[in-house]
Amino acid sequence: MRIGVLTGGGDCPGLNGVIRAAVTKGVKEYGYDFVGFRDGWKGPLEGLTMELNLETVRDILPKGGTILGSSRTNPFKIDGGVEKIKENLAKHGIDALIAIGGEDTLGVATKLDALGVKVIGVPKTIDNDLNNTDYTFGFDTAVNIAVEAIDRLHTTAASHKRAIIVQVMGRHAGWIALWGGLAGAADIILIPEIPFSLEKVAEFVEKREAAGFKSTMIVVAEGARTHHGQQFRKQSASGEWRLGGIGEMLAQEVEARSGKETRVCVLGHLQRGGDPTTLDRILGIRFGVKAVQLALEERFGTMVSYQNYEVLDVPIADAVHRLKKVPPDCQLVGTARAMGISFGD
Ligand code: F6P
Repeated sequence: MRIGVLTGGGDCPGLNGVIRAAVTKGVKEYGYDFVGFRDGWKGPLEGLTMELNLETVRDILPKGGTILGSSRTNPFKIDGGVEKIKENLAKHGIDALIAIGGEDTLGVATKLDALGVKVIGVPKTIDNDLNNTDYTFGFDTAVNIAVEAIDRLHTTAASHKRAIIVQVMGRHAGWIALWGGLAGAADIILIPEIPFSLEKVAEFVEKREAAGFKSTMIVVAEGARTHHGQQFRKQSASGEWRLGGIGEMLAQEVEARSGKETRVCVLGHLQRGGDPTTLDRILGIRFGVKAVQLALEERFGTMVSYQNYEVLDVPIADAVHRLKKVPPDCQLVGTARAMGISFGD
């Protein structure tokens, strides 16, 4: 069997672990050949490939990013895109394609599966918002980076008696903010799933000040929204609208309303870069091994999935039809509230 592999969407630590595990198991146990497609769906669309063998994947486990490159190219938004992909897969003699990605990349995989392309999905996102899997690799690394940053910011916040706002990633789901904020002993956590009020946030800061606390740590997900449904976006130089600016807005509002000197720290792509944690390496390896096993069993249209300590498989379509968001009444939110953390609601 000849297997194509691609990584699409935002990169994340652990991708190389999946690639290495799939190639190692496939070559050593089954004698399979592999072809790496570069830059997400752009690879099979334009026929951009690289060699994937035991040699090229040897030292990549501890490395962040993806040796295959990534992009957000969507072949369904390009005239004749699907036909070009089918042509290129046939040209390279591909019997099965392993697509490693988040909701967009796997959304494309679902549609291609319906059109007869033999595809297996591997879920990836630091945001941990893919359905039908307890965790995605990349999330643990991102949370660890957030916690380290929050720990550091606590000491400077206390020295200067300031409020500090830490803006973390999470467009639709607040998992990084919730885990990072809880582990980093934040005072306020703002997530997209629990709309907040600026008044309540400022009031909480004032109350802490009155109670004699020197500083206040606020962790906010980039996609958090106010009670009025307002999200904060910025336009890039290329005219594209992206989430951003909620941290700065909060800093201004908190300072103006509470009188507390406030600073903001946007963690941004630091959360996606660098080496994967042990947990993400192991999850990546387990996902890669399972993906090749699914190819052997010809279980196309499925996605590997981590459930209750086991790596299983589910239909890709089930994982992408809706995102896994933080249930506002879940135990973890309850635990955070029990620790005195405010959600600004
Ligand atoms: O991978 C998901 C994510 O990290 C989001 O939380 C974030 O908004 C987005 O990627 C940013 O990605 P990029 O800057 O690569 O478009």
